[in-house]
Order: sequence, then C-alpha cells, then structure tokens
Amino acid sequence: MLNHPQATSAPWRIGVLFSRTGFMSVIEETQYQGTQLAIEEINAAGGICGRELVPVAYDPGSDSIAYGHFAKRLMIEDDVNAIFGCYTSSSRKAVLPVVERLNGLLWYPTLYEGFEASPNVIYTGASPNQNSLSLCRYLMDNYGGRFYFVGSDYIYPRESNRVMRELLTANGGSVVGERYVSVHARWQDFLPIVQDIRRVKPDVVFSTVVGDSTVYLYQAYANVGLDPKMMPIASLTTTEAEIAAMGHDVGEGHITAASYFQGIEGHANDCFVSRYKKRFGNDVSTNMCAEASYFQMYLFARALEQANTLDTEVLRAMVLGISFDAPQGAVTVDPMSGHTDLWTRIGRANRKGQFDIINESREAVHADPFLIGYGRAAGYAG
Ligand code: ACM
Repeated sequence: MLNHPQATSAPWRIGVLFSRTGFMSVIEETQYQGTQLAIEEINAAGGICGRELVPVAYDPGSDSIAYGHFAKRLMIEDDVNAIFGCYTSSSRKAVLPVVERLNGLLWYPTLYEGFEASPNVIYTGASPNQNSLSLCRYLMDNYGGRFYFVGSDYIYPRESNRVMRELLTANGGSVVGERYVSVHARWQDFLPIVQDIRRVKPDVVFSTVVGDSTVYLYQAYANVGLDPKMMPIASLTTTEAEIAAMGHDVGEGHITAASYFQGIEGHANDCFVSRYKKRFGNDVSTNMCAEASYFQMYLFARALEQANTLDTEVLRAMVLGISFDAPQGAVTVDPMSGHTDLWTRIGRANRKGQFDIINESREAVHADPFLIGYGRAAGYAG
C-alpha cells in the first residue's frame, strides 16, 4: 500500500483511463472532463484530509486491449490502485482481471449490460433495469412492439439486445431485424441497414451503436428519408455529445433513455452545468457519461475522507451505502451489488441538440444488475 493513514501532505494518486483519441473520444473526452472538473473542485476546496488528488492519466486510444495494459501499468509501475475509467464494456472486461488480480478498485461511469458484480468495481452507470425497462415500456405504448435492433459488434450491444428481446417478447412484441456493424463502421456500412429498415418498416429502431458510428447511423437514417416522428431511433448510448457531432437537425426527434440529461431542473444540476461550461466552453453540453464521471469522483472523495486510506478493502467498505446529491438527483451505492441507485428518464432530442424529458422516475431506481426483481422472462410487468 502506498498511502498509509499517517499524517502526510503527499497527494493521493489516482488513475484515469479514458480515450481522448480514436472513435470513442466523442463521448470519452466528456468523461475525462467530468472527472477533471470534479478533481479540480475537490482540490480547490482543500483536497481530502488536506491532501490533493493527483490524476495519473493515460489515453488508450479507443483500443480495448490497451485499457488492460494501462491498468496494469497504473497498478504496478505507478502504484495507483483506484482507477476511474472505461466506456465500452470490452474495455471494462480488459481492466477487470487486472483490478481483480491486483486488488484495485475500478470506478466505472457508463451504462452497461448488467449481469456482473465484481468486488473490485463500483458501477455508477445504469443497468438494464434502470434504462431498458422503461424505454421498452414507453416505446411499446407509444409506437408499437415491432423492434429492429442495430448495434456495434461487441459485448454490450449483444447482451443489451438479449435483455431487450426478453422484455419485448415477454410482453407480446417481436424483433423484426437484428444487425451488427464493426465499431469502426462508416456511413456506407449503415446504408444497406437503413434500406432494410425502410423495407421492413418496424415500429421503432433500437440502437446500441456507440462512438463515432452513432453519427453515421443517424445521418444515413436521415439521408434515406426515414422520419423520427413516425419511426424514431431509440437508444441508451446516444447522448448530447453524439447529437452535437451528428448535427442537431439530424438528431431531432430521436429518443434516448438515461439517468441524466443536461436539461434537468434543480440546483445541483444548474451548478454542474454552469461550472462545466465555464471550464470547457459555452458551446459544450453535459451528458449522462460526463455526469456519472463527475459525481463518482465525489462519492470516492466522501469515502476517502472517512477511510483516509486508498486501501481497497477499507475504501470499498466506506463506499458501500454512500449517497450524494448528484446533478441527476440523489444517488446511493447499493451495498449488495456495488451498483448505484440512479434515476430513470426518457428524453426526445430537440432542435437545439438538447433532450426534452418526456418521462421520469419519481425517485432513484434501485440497481438490479441481474434483473432479479423482474424474473428473467417476466418482462416489465408491474
Ligand atoms: C457500454 O459498452 N457499456 C456502453
């Protein structure tokens, strides 16, 4: 252990792993910024137990395998054992054996497919019961039950679609198409897919496409004349950041389920949005991934304040059950699963590149990463 709880003014060194280059940087740069903003605020307020947070940051360049290598370097060469990072589930899966073997703690601020609970991870993004469930219900009620799946080809889209298929079929809906593209897909790769969508005429398209490809899917959709008013693309991964990249006119009318949108009203979010814009520019928007990256640093800081050590066992014990008044509303880390109770919202993108919130939970929804409360095939009943 590096950081003993004795009196010292030495900084707390922490690892940061987000891709600031490559096809995932469209969203991971915002996670980096959310992390950076929280660190700067915490340090400006005097640090933790009088000690500053100092990030040791690497850019894995959107290469999943590189996340594993950098996690190892952070833990072995840089003597860091708390790592804040990862967007894709494939990058998380590359870091997982490293933090499990070397007993580190990964703070993971991204929605994912669920069905995982490592003692070496704190999950601060949504599980399927906190986004897919309400999205499925909303889409079936408002558009119909014939869904067409389009996803990037890796674990999150395939697993997320497996869950969505279960929810859908348990409630009388059906999957009328399912297509996967490389994470490097370009505009022309989506053309045959949007043409197939035009032919099949589903009620809704469910996209689990991530990164730069998101932009190409929505642009190809608009280009062949598909109209979001009649048949929207619904997603869990298309945030304000991807909408800004594709163009507000292209994104307008499409639907996303998320715990956070920039337009949420309330003091905590007003402060977050104005500080974020002051730091990174008036023209940038916050989004669910930046927000989770921001509030998880505050959860960490609170736990570290109590633990006064980066020892994983001690720190994790302090983290479990901890709450924070996040920009999305109050959130709590569930002691059983290490996942976070989060708010559930559905938004429709407007002409300004923001989401109008059309549906929202009354309180934070309990994290249920294994969908135990719903039964594996019982769908969204209740
Ligand atoms: C993801 O890969 N968890 C979006």
